[in-house]
Amino acid sequence: MSDKLAALPRKRLAHLPTPLDELPRLREALSEMAENGVPRLFIKRDDCTGLAFGGNKTRKLEFLIGEALAQGCDTVITAGAAQSNHARQTAAAAAAAGLDCVLVLFDTVPYQGRDYRRSGNLLLDDLLGARVIVEAADADPAKVFERVMQELASQGRKAYFAPVGGSNVTGTMGYVNAYLELADQLEARGIAASHIVHGSSSGGTQAGLVAGQMLRPGGPAVLGINVYRDDTQAMANDIHALAVKTAEALGADLPPNEVVALEAGYLGDGYGVPTAQMRRAVETLARLEGVFLDPVYSGKAMAGLIGLILDGRMRAEDNVVFLHTGGAPGLFAYAEEFSDR
Ligand SMILES: Cc1ncc(COP(=O)(O)O)c(C=O)c1O
Repeated sequence: MSDKLAALPRKRLAHLPTPLDELPRLREALSEMAENGVPRLFIKRDDCTGLAFGGNKTRKLEFLIGEALAQGCDTVITAGAAQSNHARQTAAAAAAAGLDCVLVLFDTVPYQGRDYRRSGNLLLDDLLGARVIVEAADADPAKVFERVMQELASQGRKAYFAPVGGSNVTGTMGYVNAYLELADQLEARGIAASHIVHGSSSGGTQAGLVAGQMLRPGGPAVLGINVYRDDTQAMANDIHALAVKTAEALGADLPPNEVVALEAGYLGDGYGVPTAQMRRAVETLARLEGVFLDPVYSGKAMAGLIGLILDGRMRAEDNVVFLHTGGAPGLFAYAEEFSDR
């Protein structure tokens, strides 16, 4: 780990290192369909980070909660969509650190499934003791936060604001660390990986991996699958800006533009809206490997990886790592996508 990274305030929350496993049955199944062959496939199990059903946010929250504690805050506030995994994991991290938690959830996803607004992450948010404020899709976030912050201040609370998805420089440090951890695992096992593929949304995961790559050149290239917004170029620009700020804070070389690779084509009709490819990917991983993906992020990301392989964009002689970023509690909010019961 770099000295600057090691010196940052950090609250240990995650089970690390997460396992690096292989996906032999997925590879075998794809081999029957892929004309150009299939790379050896690995899965980095960040769904097993261990905090409240795990996921990528645990790594970010180690640094965010560390900062909140260092600042003497007693309450954490964050925001997201109704089924935000980040919100659920923030509520868990706050509980574990003895802090109060306020979640402002905007009802922005047009999905109308029967369990979407009561089960999955929302159920867990309640169980974790967070105060959950649900706002309409068209609510003005700035006004809502001002109201909540004023209310907390009038109660004498000192609030720490964790950004959407945990994606500022502080949270992004968690994925700098993840890149270094993965590079160590690959090196110890003598595996030269060409790519690490993952779902990208608020961008901290990808920005952190890219900044990590600057500290450990020669490791796998980072390939994000856009599961978030229509304008992929604008999203890549934002991720690049965050990666540059993060690398700067670490005194690392600054990542050039082209290091941020973001694949469009797997978002479908929008963030949180199911696609047929996502459903197939979720079912395939469950049935071939016993691994649960999620409907919003890792399912669409795996659909992307499978699409790239079937399109001949990954070489059979490569080793490719799929970063499983978690999110499986979201399956319960999308129950009817996967079962007729
Ligand atoms: C399960 C899961 N995977 C991937 C992501 C995307 O990570 P990021 O927001 O850092 O791009 C998120 C968060 O938004 C998530 O909850």
